[in-house]
Amino acid sequence: MSAVCIEFKPGLEGIPATQSSISYVDGQQGILEYRGTNIEELAKKSSFLETAYLLIWGNLPSKEELDSFQEDIRYHRRIKYRIRDMMKCFPETGHPMDALQASAAALGLFYSRRALDNPEYIRFAVVRLLAKIPTMVAAFQLMRKGNDPVQPRDDLDYAANFLYMLNEKEPDPLAAKVFDVCLTLHAEHTINASTFSAMVTASTLTDPYAVIASAVGTLAGPLHGGANEDVITMLSEIGSVENVRPYLEKCLETKAKIMGFGHRVYKVKDPRAIILQEIAVELFEKFGYDKYYEIALEMEKAVEEKLGHRGIYPNVDFYSGLVYRKLGIPSDLFTPVFAIARVAGWLAHWKEQLAANRIFRPTQIYTGEHNVYYTPIQER
Ligand SMILES: CC(C)(COP(=O)(O)OP(=O)(O)OC[C@H]1O[C@@H](n2cnc3c(N)ncnc32)[C@H](O)[C@@H]1OP(=O)(O)O)[C@@H](O)C(=O)NCCC(=O)NCCS
Repeated sequence: MSAVCIEFKPGLEGIPATQSSISYVDGQQGILEYRGTNIEELAKKSSFLETAYLLIWGNLPSKEELDSFQEDIRYHRRIKYRIRDMMKCFPETGHPMDALQASAAALGLFYSRRALDNPEYIRFAVVRLLAKIPTMVAAFQLMRKGNDPVQPRDDLDYAANFLYMLNEKEPDPLAAKVFDVCLTLHAEHTINASTFSAMVTASTLTDPYAVIASAVGTLAGPLHGGANEDVITMLSEIGSVENVRPYLEKCLETKAKIMGFGHRVYKVKDPRAIILQEIAVELFEKFGYDKYYEIALEMEKAVEEKLGHRGIYPNVDFYSGLVYRKLGIPSDLFTPVFAIARVAGWLAHWKEQLAANRIFRPTQIYTGEHNVYYTPIQER
């Protein structure tokens, strides 16, 4: 028996699983950088597709490179009618994240060539996934309401086109701009659960559609991307500013998690939550206030008083739901919208993994028995 002494860390907390130059988080100071550039700067000055290019290829594109990337994505936005037909058969009561996971995996059936050492193959896998995931999310939303999906519009940019396909009308320019910023903020976040899942899948050298499908499945959980949907449920259960403190006391008594608060890495307010709160206010000023915002503000104050000393502050999911509500996005689409953005980060990690690949094969600490006698069924 080998006598290797290995410390077990549940959730692999603090254990490096890779080397990466894609993004950086300083959880004590509340800093997030993509390829070394601060997220505030990208949110103000860049666009989602330019940021996706930066994450995936490691540098900001020249004007020609960006034009051609955007043009390719515009061209590949449509989905095959057989994928649409497949999606029509999904139950309308199914969660849109499950629909997205199945549809992303189905892309692998149609683009099955696997040429991972061919830069053109990589480029077109990136383009297809970035282009088609929003179309699939919007198509499922319309089809589950019994409507035909809306075709993408070539004259609209990435964010505006998604909102158009979803709401069947051209969005207000501020709404489109705000949505683009949301996508930028959610595009990447070091090695979280879904990114790790993408990397493990990528390390087997399977196709990129399987990589993204496994990441989508992982993002769906309430401890990860699913929290933004739960925040809105929580705010609606609280119902009024007066009810915030009794609700919080009950959570603390029963040790229930308060959705949208806390983070494995951030011990201060998530920098993305700060930007999202600012843009939520911008939207409210133009389109009217949301009563949930008052409740959210009171909740933030109360949680800070009770749990701030333990480093529990709002995370990215706390204010994103309020922004999405104002953009007319239903709450069970919040996580699919997160996935639309995070595809950029997952693809960047897919590419980075391929560049220095070794299949993931961690070890375990066996806690079971040995030499157990097999009891025949009559004796059990
Ligand atoms: C994000 C999250 C999963 C991080 O988990 P983690 O790093 O494993 O931290 P833990 O869940 O072990 O929490 C550490 C401690 O802080 C407490 N804590 C963390 N987040 C909390 C929250 N949202 N509400 C109440 N207590 C919380 C835990 O109860 C735990 O207390 P204990 O040490 O007394 O047991 C966790 O904060 C959480 O579940 N948040 C709510 C869901 C959410 O918003 N997810 C989106 C993340 S972007």
